[in-house]
Amino acid sequence: MAKYKIAWLPGDGIGRDVLEATRIVLDAMSLDAEYIDGEVGWTCWERYGDALPQATIDILKSTKCAMFGAITSKPNVKGYKSPIVRMRQLFDMYANIRPCKAYPGNPLNYRDDVDIVVFRENTEDLYSGLDFPPPLGKEIMAVPGMQNKSPDETAVSLRVFTKKGCSRIVRKAFEYAREHRRKRVTLLHKANVVRATDGMFLTEAHKVAEEYEDIKCDDANIDAMTMWLIKNPQDYDILATSNMFGDIISDEAAQLVGGLGYACSGNIGDGYALFEPTHGSAPKYAGMHKVNPTAAILSAKMMFDWLGEKDQADKLERAVAAVIKENRVTTYDVGGSSTTLDVAREVVRKLDEV
Ligand code: NAI
Ligand code: MG
Repeated sequence: MAKYKIAWLPGDGIGRDVLEATRIVLDAMSLDAEYIDGEVGWTCWERYGDALPQATIDILKSTKCAMFGAITSKPNVKGYKSPIVRMRQLFDMYANIRPCKAYPGNPLNYRDDVDIVVFRENTEDLYSGLDFPPPLGKEIMAVPGMQNKSPDETAVSLRVFTKKGCSRIVRKAFEYAREHRRKRVTLLHKANVVRATDGMFLTEAHKVAEEYEDIKCDDANIDAMTMWLIKNPQDYDILATSNMFGDIISDEAAQLVGGLGYACSGNIGDGYALFEPTHGSAPKYAGMHKVNPTAAILSAKMMFDWLGEKDQADKLERAVAAVIKENRVTTYDVGGSSTTLDVAREVVRKLDEV
């Protein structure tokens, strides 16, 4: 029996292209793993009326972790819930970790010295599912301040934070900082205006920070941070924040180091983890083997780290870095004309050299 059972969920569109490429790389490495295929996404919704069928949930339950491609979501579809949001909540994968590291030689880098890791809370905030379109019910209309609004013309999305949710994401960031000899954690919020939730985040975060005297802790308003990141990205180290702010700031940080083709991520809980490129299913490129698989391959590198396979993780990262440095086999987004699978095969060749 293989040492690791890993759920394999390509999903929709280019999710399939990039996981096909990732598999070429994984099959060339010495990881004793068995990959279990599962269905997820829009095609499942059309086929079964459920974008995350029970059979797939059972596969997740029987595996150690998962690799995920991307899914197509469409707004205003009655009864539809994003399967990736559901998986994060079902398996309590509360930390969304997004490294944004500039690999030298990438012509899309904003600067070559950016190395930021974003820790985004992954289960609460505006993604809790407490979403109320009009017409609003009596209970919500009874909330002080709502009386002057029309129930038929008002919508409410509740921003829910818990002390536990705030402190565990910040703790995850500090633990990572300690393990990786990072020097500084910056907390992102809007506590001067959104006082109840961001105030709680800041208070709980500072309690956690006190336990890590060896690591510098500071904080910044999220709006100002979007500016600082463009002005001095090289000054930042680890960013820890809530779900919505983390969603936005991690896309900005990713763009500094090459954009969606390079943006990898891990959804990490205490018992399960799922690794995915942060891009979506880019339907217009589906099945064309045109897009950049690097984000997905770097997500597999994060999976190796999480499994404790550090040597394999380092080897894979060096191979990817070597391909980027040469800047010869590149997909359209970097100005090249190589295919998704060409890039994967080039990473495999570099595995032998590094
Ligand atoms: P997207 O990330 O799918 O694509 C936006 C554009 O970015 C693409 O048209 C393409 O030009 C570029 N791009 C994305 N990935 C690339 C790659 N690996 N290499 C090169 N270029 C790449 O975002 P979009 O168009 O907003 O959404 C398309 C669908 O994906 C929607 O249904 C959306 O809901 C879904 N989505 C799913 C996510 C997930 O599965 N976690 C995340 C984001 C969007
Ligand atoms: Mg996003």
